[in-house]
Amino acid sequence: MSSIICRAVILAAGQGKRMKSSRPKVLHDVLGRPMISRVVDALTSLPNAKIEHLHIIVGHARDQLQEYLDKNVSTALTCHTQDPQLGTGHAVMQAAAGLNEANFKGNLIVTVGDAPLISSATLQALVEKHVNEKSVVTVLSTDVENPTGYGRIVRDERRKVKGIVEDKDATPSQKQISEINTGIFCLSWPQVEDGLKSLKADNQQKEYYLTDLVEWAVKAGLPVSALKAYDCRSVMGINSRPELAKASRLLSDMTIERLSIEDGVTVVDPASSWIDPDVKVGPDSTILPNTHILAGARIGSGCVIGPNTVLKGKVEIGNNVHVNQSQISDSKIGDNCKVGPFAHLRDGNIVSENCKIGNFVELKNSTIGIKSNCAHLSYIGDTTIGTRTNVGAGTITANYDHLTKSKAKTIIGDDVAIGSNSVLVAPVTIANDVVVAAGSVIVENVPASSLAIARGKQVNKDGWVEQKKTTSLKK
Ligand code: UD1
Ligand code: CA
Repeated sequence: MSSIICRAVILAAGQGKRMKSSRPKVLHDVLGRPMISRVVDALTSLPNAKIEHLHIIVGHARDQLQEYLDKNVSTALTCHTQDPQLGTGHAVMQAAAGLNEANFKGNLIVTVGDAPLISSATLQALVEKHVNEKSVVTVLSTDVENPTGYGRIVRDERRKVKGIVEDKDATPSQKQISEINTGIFCLSWPQVEDGLKSLKADNQQKEYYLTDLVEWAVKAGLPVSALKAYDCRSVMGINSRPELAKASRLLSDMTIERLSIEDGVTVVDPASSWIDPDVKVGPDSTILPNTHILAGARIGSGCVIGPNTVLKGKVEIGNNVHVNQSQISDSKIGDNCKVGPFAHLRDGNIVSENCKIGNFVELKNSTIGIKSNCAHLSYIGDTTIGTRTNVGAGTITANYDHLTKSKAKTIIGDDVAIGSNSVLVAPVTIANDVVVAAGSVIVENVPASSLAIARGKQVNKDGWVEQKKTTSLKK
């Protein structure tokens, strides 16, 4: 099927009362990222359909949400204010004028903003079913063990969808139905506009329910379909903080299942590991307990990551790398490196192959050449290090000028040995094959193949102790 052009409406105007928060519900994090960004990502990465425009319904704490969207979403979008918030059907109506002004005629995906586990594959299947069956309303449903709180899909004796009844309006027998409405639909615009206009708020919550559109279409003789999501976890809706916690857990669990079943990755303790679905890990890598791998990480094969490790942002790790009890953000680590325990690689580092970054070493914005080591207790910032260089324990690059608030670079060549407890005051360049004596404070460039010593000269005073003892005893 050639790429289908769609628009999408995301419902995000509600307060999310049950969250008891001043922040809009959809800005709460699920596995380190706001729910709404996960919904937007799923919509904008459909494998075989293109969302040409997003319509986001905002209301409660609208400014916060709009600011987030402006900063973080690159797809063309319009925010439509819904004030007051009179229900999900009323919410979709707020986008009607915008859709008609753009002269949009086509498939409109409508999704609640609080179901962030949705995948682009499921949304793609929904759109394809809608198109193939020439439906006007297609609802994404799923079977759950505990349907409490969700709208139920009501089917007739021929199992055809008849309508959706909300939990609060359901009769005791309807409450037994385990097939629920995920809150995600594909609609044909503008055919459904009349239906939205005809919605009534004659229900328990006195709201205009989007779900009533199904009954409207059935009564109007328009084709209605339902697609059942086979993994009910991926369509879970979040209404409270315990559900928020559960959503992060489920998202990680689903990712770990994929990594361990499809990609040949061992996750020793899934319950204490947190892995974003965006993360890629090569075969025969092992993730040890209590490790958090957030969106953006790419890990090669044969690696051991953890325990107690955090990888955050764009982290690229080669093959056969060990990262033990460490934190890495926005950095690249080459093959066969060893990192940690207790290393902190802040943003912008490139560590080449076969390096060791050891305990209590902090790297920031630095490049380390092949086979170089910073094995103990160092701060290396804004520094370039060549190949086969050894940085001794306790070396500090003094890269920050407190008065001018500016930073300067340190350049260290190939085959250099920096003695322990040295301070390299930037800007400074240390050429190839240099030895810096331990305890030096280097403030001037060091030419190739030389020894640099910059410390007080040692003085040994013969017999000083004996002399001191006798003079003190005389007193
Ligand atoms: C909704 C569905 C229910 C479904 C469930 C799936 C309706 C009437 N009910 O119920 O069938 O099983 O989602 O999770 O559609 N919103 C607005 N404006 C409003 C009201 C809500 O933008 O006036 C937004 C909210 O911000 C939220 C989403 O719509 O992102 C869903 O609202 P919520 O109140 O959570 O609906 P549920 O009761 O969960
Ligand atoms: Ca909800």
